[in-house]
Amino acid sequence: MDEDEFRKQFGRKSVFRHFSSLDLTFVPEKLYCRDKAIKDLIFSFRRIVDEEEQPSVNCLILGKAGVGKTVTARYFGKNFRNIAIEKDVNIFVEYYNCINFRSKSKIIRELLAKYTHGSGRGFSDDEALKLILTKLVREKGYMLLIIDEIHLLKSDEILAFLDIAETFGHQNAKLSILLISRIRDWMNVETERILSRINDKIKFNPYDFDESKQILQYRSELAFKEYVIDDEILNMVSQIVTEHKNMRHGIEILRKSGLHSDKEGLDRITPDAIREASNEVYPTFRGEIVDQLNEQELLALYGITRSLMNTDDPFTIVDDAYEEYQTICETYSIEPHVKMSFRKYVRQLNDISVISSKTVRIEEAERGRHLEITLLDITAPKLEEFLIDIFDRKFGT
Ligand SMILES: Nc1ncnc2c1ncn2[C@@H]1O[C@H](COP(=O)(O)OP(=O)(O)OP(=O)(O)O)[C@@H](O)[C@H]1O
Ligand SMILES: [Mg+2]
Repeated sequence: MDEDEFRKQFGRKSVFRHFSSLDLTFVPEKLYCRDKAIKDLIFSFRRIVDEEEQPSVNCLILGKAGVGKTVTARYFGKNFRNIAIEKDVNIFVEYYNCINFRSKSKIIRELLAKYTHGSGRGFSDDEALKLILTKLVREKGYMLLIIDEIHLLKSDEILAFLDIAETFGHQNAKLSILLISRIRDWMNVETERILSRINDKIKFNPYDFDESKQILQYRSELAFKEYVIDDEILNMVSQIVTEHKNMRHGIEILRKSGLHSDKEGLDRITPDAIREASNEVYPTFRGEIVDQLNEQELLALYGITRSLMNTDDPFTIVDDAYEEYQTICETYSIEPHVKMSFRKYVRQLNDISVISSKTVRIEEAERGRHLEITLLDITAPKLEEFLIDIFDRKFGT
């Protein structure tokens, strides 16, 4: 390629107006079709700005994958803060996803570092929390703590969060909590005691066709230039979203088909581009989770993927996956961990629903049972493509 050609590539037109508005963490200015949920949240939390004693409130958002739980919570947090500030209430909204912070301690340490600039080393969780709460009282601040994917914490850790006001005294706890979880995951951690401490439970149903279309129309207007997407295309994507009951699927299809059109030099998105993108999108597979795995978990997942590709069975067993894992470690000059640790990574991957593992009894095996591992939301070759991409970025050769 010469310089002229190089320049020409930059001059090429794009269908996108605002590409990053299709990022999964993007919070749009307007939120359609969740009015009821937002009104419920306002009803529950407005006492913080209306009442002198600023009570502590605990709420929970439940719903299936891709129904807008995260985006609604973030939208609420952002706008609630603005209103509070107008009313002279100094609210800090903190959002934590337990995929990145997998224990109560991790969240508390992070808060402590942010609010008191201390590392909190040598403090217990309670001591650290007390420092944070004292600081809030002293500075007349108030914190809304949003914790997403809460099922990744243990029940007693969730309870400890919900119990803060009881533990430290209501007048000392200038803090409210909004928890988010998929329904199925929540069932694994819910206890009577946890339930008794939740003031309001808000359930999100999947969007129907008209709702999906309205949301997709708005998101396309933000993301694309005029005339890139027509009504027929919108109907197609809305149909797919309604079938899968998952808005993430729709947003991903918009992103992928837009990229495809740019690559092909087209100035609009065609039905074919949508069909193709739709085949490439795995509705429940969450790339962002895989992206955030630690090194050993990634290597373990790669090992599992490779061994699944080597077998005709729909599952692999832990010994085979471990062997592949060791080979991969070698390739990247990383010291492999022992099998017991490997089993732990498999368990962690299972906990965050990237894979599914189950112990199966079999007659001929040494100890009479083995661990069968399958992928949940994506095929092994597709996941491998995805992993190669991550490995290139993280351990680039
Ligand atoms: N009402 C809405 N308006 C605009 N965009 C939306 C709306 N609902 C969902 N989305 C978009 O759909 C995608 C999925 O939403 P979100 O991540 O909030 O789902 P979720 O319920 O948290 O799913 P999961 O349980 O998988 O985390 C995001 O890109 C989000 O911005
Ligand atoms: Mg979410």
